Amino acid sequence: MKILVISGPNLNLLGTREPEIYGRTTLADIEAGLRQQAAQSGVEIEFFQSNHEGALLDCLQGARGQVDAVVINPGALGHYSIALRDALAALDCPAVEVHLSNIYRREEFRHHTVTAAVVAGQISGFGPLSYHLGLEAAISLARMMGGNLEG
Ligand code: DQA
Repeated sequence: MKILVISGPNLNLLGTREPEIYGRTTLADIEAGLRQQAAQSGVEIEFFQSNHEGALLDCLQGARGQVDAVVINPGALGHYSIALRDALAALDCPAVEVHLSNIYRREEFRHHTVTAAVVAGQISGFGPLSYHLGLEAAISLARMMGGNLEG
């Protein structure tokens, strides 16, 4: 089983970016933790981060038929990118949306994501744990759907 974990704009700055909101854990730390979790679950995992909307769309399009589930932190794009929403809707596998911060406790413009309606579910507010819970959900969903791509 193969799971793709995607992080959108500015998430490469985790650790130093507004640490009072996002904490001191880097994206590399999160990836290392997710690799351990995936190994324990016997699952293959791939990571992709980009600050560019088109690169994220290309990655999602390339995932069609190649992965059993997607975990995505869309960053700010989740709030307004219809193109990202459409690429998620075009997936042939379940996707889980994650946010480190609790977007519902923050500025009003963060309370809505255009992506939420096309993913299986959303996890928000648990810091790096949001990614881990997202991976757990993605694995469970993929297993329910009989995922069997390599790994
Ligand atoms: C975020 C929340 C978004 O509102 C913000 O634009 C981000 C990070 C989060 O993980 O909490 O870049 O997705």
